[in-house]
Amino acid sequence: MSQPDVVDSVAALRARIRDWRRDGLRVAMVPTMGALHEGHLSLIRIACEKAERCVVSIFVNPTQFAPSEDLDKYPRQLTRDLDMLATVKADLAFTPTVGAMYPAGFATKISVGGPSAGLESDFRPTFFEGVATVVAKLFLQATPDYAVFGEKDYQQLCVVRQLCHDLDLPVEIIGAPTIRDAHGLAMSSRNAYLDEAELAVARQLNVILRKAAAALASGAHRDDATAEARRALTAAGFQKVDYVEARESLTLAPWRRDRAGRLLAAAWLGKTRLIDNVEVSTG
Ligand code: PAF
Repeated sequence: MSQPDVVDSVAALRARIRDWRRDGLRVAMVPTMGALHEGHLSLIRIACEKAERCVVSIFVNPTQFAPSEDLDKYPRQLTRDLDMLATVKADLAFTPTVGAMYPAGFATKISVGGPSAGLESDFRPTFFEGVATVVAKLFLQATPDYAVFGEKDYQQLCVVRQLCHDLDLPVEIIGAPTIRDAHGLAMSSRNAYLDEAELAVARQLNVILRKAAAALASGAHRDDATAEARRALTAAGFQKVDYVEARESLTLAPWRRDRAGRLLAAAWLGKTRLIDNVEVSTG
């Protein structure tokens, strides 16, 4: 299987998309920061089923990293990523430089309210501004009909939906189920930082969340179930638990029993921060 074509300028991306549109083809986009894994490939497969053409952006977006975060350490492996893209039916990889995305003098930030409040934002206050700004740029550059985001980053998915709704961006956002290893650990580029012992602890995150979601489903109070999950995460070996919270699935407002719910968590193993979430099903 051959690697997809690669373009690194907005002009070349637009030219390619113009050709596809002229031929009546629909376009699906999967925004990524590279370091691709099976989770990304599952998003790309969905994109390829949805539209005749699929473009994958690979861009480690500096504006979503705080100064204290792992921007420099974030894995960059374009050749390997392109090999992986060859195994799915992606048509085009868009690999802009930081200078192309944020030329000197760039001075715009998009701040999304609603679902961006709390959770990740309590610990990474500028994260969603960075995500919303780069996603809006990518959508305006590529003008996709569809874009696929993983439920693994559940709050991000909700923020992107809100962004597109509020700015009337004509793109349908598709949320894709989280891909997990055989032990339930959600696929993440950051798993590469974990050693064997940490991996064993990391695999407890989903187990503990599922147990808490089951407790909620069978009537446990929201605060009791989340407090118990925090205790269990600490006992399992997570050094720090940033949050475990039950929220409404659509708005991310605090969960009420009569609404579809989502249990979301973030916790630290050494220098690695892991996030995960599960559905709260109340029948
Ligand atoms: O989820 C990610 O990889 C990033 O946040 C995204 C959506 C590609 C924006 O940089």
